[in-house]
Amino acid sequence: MRLKLKTVFVLYFLVSLLGLIYALMQLGQRCDCTEHDAPKERTISRLRGELRRLRERAKKSEVAGQPQIESSPPPTIFVITPTYARLVQKAELTRLSQTFLHVPRLHWIVVEDSQTKTPLVGQLLAQSGLSYTHLHVATARERKLQEGDPSWLKPRGVEQRNEGLRWLREDRGAPGDRRGGQSGVVYFADDDNTYSLRLFEEMRSTRRVSVWPVGLVGGMKYEKPVVEGGKVVRFHVGWRPGRPFPLDMAGFAVSLELLLANPDSRFDGDAPTGFLESSLLQGLVTADQLEPKADNCSKVLVWHTRTEKPKMKREDALQAQGLGSDPAVEV
Ligand SMILES: *[C@@H]1O[C@H](CO)[C@@H](O)[C@H](O)[C@H]1NC(C)=O
Repeated sequence: MRLKLKTVFVLYFLVSLLGLIYALMQLGQRCDCTEHDAPKERTISRLRGELRRLRERAKKSEVAGQPQIESSPPPTIFVITPTYARLVQKAELTRLSQTFLHVPRLHWIVVEDSQTKTPLVGQLLAQSGLSYTHLHVATARERKLQEGDPSWLKPRGVEQRNEGLRWLREDRGAPGDRRGGQSGVVYFADDDNTYSLRLFEEMRSTRRVSVWPVGLVGGMKYEKPVVEGGKVVRFHVGWRPGRPFPLDMAGFAVSLELLLANPDSRFDGDAPTGFLESSLLQGLVTADQLEPKADNCSKVLVWHTRTEKPKMKREDALQAQGLGSDPAVEV
């Protein structure tokens, strides 16, 4: 009996010893791992240090009785894009949507010139990854350009831009609903232009109406407001510089607050050619209130590019033989 007890003790001792040796070996390996993880450890301790400093700063400003500066979120940019069905529509909207994906706090308002919302645009928006609103309004018959009409004959996209403004006023302008004091900037972006990402950060600080140069427009290399002493004094344009606001649609942005404060301001589809932009802006600002952006209007950040209308001669010929492209493939 006694002997057996002794054996048990010896066995217990041996097992414990083995366990201890094993644990020590593990400890040694851990040491190697720690060395391996050194950069991570350093990052963690750096972040801890930063957190501590921030906490101390927060405490200090509380002690000093300073109100915590609650910086309001940067304004949202509401981009209103009129669009209409044509062969290049999907390509144009894809390109535009992928530019906008790079712009933070942007809400895209796409207004189709059609009797209904089309599945092509609906699906493109749903898959875009953007925050968006999908609207539609068909242009009145007498306002529509006919095949062969020159594009300057009647302004395109008037009803659609006004529909975008109507939505903004309804959705964002409801009394009591200021979305937590959210401020906004409204920009009219046609689907064929080319936009630098920098343009959106320039317009984000718009207080009333901001302006900048537009490249490749009006038969010129660029049109731009001429700035002297930080103020717009005249306009460098090739045609009728005497218009109230000789600006291209792509050359200005308006603060949402200003649009909400002027509920009747809109584009006038009956305005003479070249006066469409003026018809909106006239009721909102005076020329000396315009805020020049893009380094005092010295940089071109948007281009009035035009996509060529694709020729369908061979498609038409093949279709006549019943060999046309599969209409089920969306282009
Ligand atoms: C614009 O011009 C004004 C007046 O000349 C100047 O004070 C200001 O710094 C300029 N701004 C930029 C961004 O160049």
